[in-house]
Amino acid sequence: MGPPGAGKGTQARSLMEEMGVPHISTGEMIREAIRRDKGPGAKAKSIVDAGKLLPDDVVLKIVEERLGQEDCRRGFILDGYPRNVSQAKDLDAVLERQDMPLDRVIELVLDEKIVVHRLTLRRTCAQCGRVFHLEFNRPAAEGICDGCQGSLALREDDEADTIRNRLKVYRHSAEALAAYYGVRSLLKRVEADQDVQEVGRELREALKEDS
Ligand code: AP5
Ligand code: MG
Repeated sequence: MGPPGAGKGTQARSLMEEMGVPHISTGEMIREAIRRDKGPGAKAKSIVDAGKLLPDDVVLKIVEERLGQEDCRRGFILDGYPRNVSQAKDLDAVLERQDMPLDRVIELVLDEKIVVHRLTLRRTCAQCGRVFHLEFNRPAAEGICDGCQGSLALREDDEADTIRNRLKVYRHSAEALAAYYGVRSLLKRVEADQDVQEVGRELREALKEDS
């Protein structure tokens, strides 16, 4: 968990490559559904563009279907799910049915003042979802993804007003969600206002620590 722009996708992608388990980003899956105009596609677009959350039951369906796939048997990294206590309870029920308890919940902590700079200079690959930053993590060739050569673009919800709404939504539920995992000793906090490598190093430490 962590506010918009905290680096959830950046860190999860690098962990995925290292651990060989899938990176499951509900944001990416929702954007993909919108692009293909299937499932929650059409209705979802107006919600995402407003910086609001999709209904819990819609996201649960997407997550449950994904976690049931073969490649999740050895584990998975969830990014951006759950976002509130109700989703956390839904997730508990799914994981109990699959007998796969959560090992750890990481909160990437970032001051809201930094978020707009992170997101307005972010460029996202339309094809594979990989993210770059025009100052901190530049692509080798302008406008082209280093990984798959897809085109890079500004995400439609990375516009200043929408970013402010997304932050408000995050603020609204983050504390209760952190408390939900805190009492079960699953939560570790990592300071996200450091360079990508240092955040990654602390994140890996937090994953290793006993709960
Ligand atoms: P989602 O796609 O999850 O967006 P988000 O939570 O707002 O987070 P972001 O993807 O914007 O940021 P990030 O933390 O991944 O940062 P990143 O690594 O890209 O969700 C989008 C929407 O989908 C939601 O608003 C909602 O509508 C819907 N949705 C999703 N999940 C849902 C759910 N569970 N329930 C209901 N609705 C849901 O990094 C940001 C930038 O910073 C990049 O440019 C990166 O290169 C750079 N950067 C990263 N780390 C660093 C660093 N340490 N230093 C400098 N720059 C850095
Ligand atoms: Mg992301």
